[in-house]
Amino acid sequence: MTEKSALPKKTRELHSHHFDSTIWNDLIFRDDDIIISTYGKSGTTWVQQIIGQLLFDGRSDLEVAEMSPWLDLRVPPKEVKLPIVEEQSHRRFMKTHLPVDALRFSANAKYLYIGRDARDVVWSLYNHHSNANQTWYEALNDTPGLVGPPIEPPPDDIRQYWRDWFERDGYPFWPFWENVRSWWAIRDLPNVNFIHFNHLKHDMPGEIRKIANFLEIPIQESSWEKILEHCSFDWMKKNATKSVPLGGAFWDAGAQVFINKGVNNRWKDTLSQEESAEYEKRAEAELGAECARWLATGEEAD
Ligand code: A3P
Repeated sequence: MTEKSALPKKTRELHSHHFDSTIWNDLIFRDDDIIISTYGKSGTTWVQQIIGQLLFDGRSDLEVAEMSPWLDLRVPPKEVKLPIVEEQSHRRFMKTHLPVDALRFSANAKYLYIGRDARDVVWSLYNHHSNANQTWYEALNDTPGLVGPPIEPPPDDIRQYWRDWFERDGYPFWPFWENVRSWWAIRDLPNVNFIHFNHLKHDMPGEIRKIANFLEIPIQESSWEKILEHCSFDWMKKNATKSVPLGGAFWDAGAQVFINKGVNNRWKDTLSQEESAEYEKRAEAELGAECARWLATGEEAD
């Protein structure tokens, strides 16, 4: 990067039942760091798995959730997490769910941002939240460092869950629109790359090659078939304890709950046309037409 002044600046901290953004202030960046960013439920784990597979030539025994921590999750606290990350000797690939302006941004690290239609995100989030067990609530609500209200169990009705999330911008998690908007604004930086869940679904091999190219990871062609197999939905579901946080300890039904269905449009049977249209109108107002189109489809203007 030549224009250092064009780098995004950190302007605020985010604290909640999930977040402690201050960890980024203390991280000593390495030039080859990889940061995987999403709002959440958008294919974060999938891309972590892809990067693990690329870095380690299709090995089947990688514990990706441990190798690739969610830095801004406030448990375990930064005093525990940072030394672990500092000790890593492999190329680091860390995850964040923060908007750009709550991050300290490196000119040399490479950033991957993954988008998914918010309706798919919320359907995935509902599965995540409604299956969470007591251990999850205790980790988020009963540990030191909680700022703001605790997270409550979701309503039984998924439509109500959607309405709460939509009307209160991300409730009870974190704001959605600012997350997408802040990343979209820096998409042209040379160390930022955009991916879309739909593209991963439609052409995973092509997308993996693009990711490898962006990250400058040479692909061992002899490992290619293994890489594809280990990034497939079926393999990841079967081996979910390796890629899902804490091996799935936050869900009584185990890690397979997290690698749930891997498909879009499940909201179509529930949301009315009016509700969907209301969402689409809001997306355009919040993001602008071009970004809203990208978020819904993965397509950018020609
Ligand atoms: P669903 O709940 O819709 O099934 P994140 O890792 O950002 O939390 O995203 C989780 C979503 O990614 C879940 O979506 C999960 O099933 C999906 N996912 C993870 N690995 C996948 C894969 N290999 N293929 C398709 N979807 C995958």
